[in-house]
Amino acid sequence: NLQPVLLSGGSGTRLWPLSREAYPKQFLPLTSDYTMVQDTWLRVAPLSDRAPIVVANEEHRFLVAEQLRQVGAPVPAIVLEPVGRNTAPAIAAAALQAMAGGEDPLLLVLPSDHVVADAEGFRRAVQTATAAAEAGALITFGIVPNAPETGFGYIQSTVAEGLSKVLRFVEKPDADTAQSYLDAGGYYWNSGMFLFRASRFLEELQRFRPDIVEAVRAAFAAAKCDGDFVRLDKQAFAACPSDSIDYAVMEKTGDAMVLPVDIGWSDVGSWSALWDVAERDGDGNAHHGDVIAIDSRNSYTYAQRLIALVGVDDVVVVETDDAILVARKDRVQEVKQVVARLKNDK
Ligand code: GDD
Ligand code: MG
Repeated sequence: NLQPVLLSGGSGTRLWPLSREAYPKQFLPLTSDYTMVQDTWLRVAPLSDRAPIVVANEEHRFLVAEQLRQVGAPVPAIVLEPVGRNTAPAIAAAALQAMAGGEDPLLLVLPSDHVVADAEGFRRAVQTATAAAEAGALITFGIVPNAPETGFGYIQSTVAEGLSKVLRFVEKPDADTAQSYLDAGGYYWNSGMFLFRASRFLEELQRFRPDIVEAVRAAFAAAKCDGDFVRLDKQAFAACPSDSIDYAVMEKTGDAMVLPVDIGWSDVGSWSALWDVAERDGDGNAHHGDVIAIDSRNSYTYAQRLIALVGVDDVVVVETDDAILVARKDRVQEVKQVVARLKNDK
């Protein structure tokens, strides 16, 4: 009775020049022979007989459909957003789609652009959490933090191990606050993967953001079905406020539970995060494509042509047909600025 939901709305700008608006990171084979959305499906396919519900931007509809078909996924329902309104509306639309046939399945909500090295471990965690989710809890999967990252949600749990009630959920705290959580202990990062009954999510969203539920219901009621595509009504969805599930629901609900997992999770948000999870040679270099490294360590290269590194450490080199990125590995977050500049110049 598990309904996988794949969220595929991000644009992954920090992985420029590979990740583009027209072709964002979830559609790229960044960490395996499969693309990230394909890996996401393959990770959960053994858990469910159901076809996934995918929520994606209108622009990516053929990419999603084709990539899932390539890995033998049953034909998904693809809910198309005319514009991005963040994850709370996206998941609400998935919940309505899941309940359209009169059922109320458990939604397993998955970002389509994360790495999970231990897929089997993740599936076991989902099974562990199933009973509590059936009983009405909103489950998150917690990751043991290793740095005061400010791009994550932080979850304070009641007990050290196993499934427990969430005492506090704080989305994207500032650096000092994040550090204080690490010092205090007992906090996990929110992995961004969730498990709950479709109706429970809608109830909680209704409680805290009735405006979002109302807008998404209107967009869904007026949706046009076109084969496997469910096109949310443009005007109604554009009128929906933008918010993430984390702020809209998880910070506020009293029914959140967290299951800590140790599954080799990464949200591979940047080139250095990709280096972190990549296979590396004895000098710490990771490469996608051919590389000759002479007296060079801890670098990441992604290119079609041969890359030669001589006497440089900790660099990132990424080549595509129309652009080349050369950056220090500890400054790859600033790639965002390149994308902003390109947008301005357009
Ligand atoms: N369909 C759809 N529509 N998907 C979306 C949208 C949207 O408007 N916005 C984001 N997504 C998808 C992204 O593609 C991604 O897979 C996932 O939802 C999460 O969105 P992000 O934008 O990457 O969120 P975040 O990284 O800032 O924060 C979330 O993830 C962290 C872990 O990576 C939060 O859940 C944090 O609490 C969490 O720690
Ligand atoms: Mg993210």
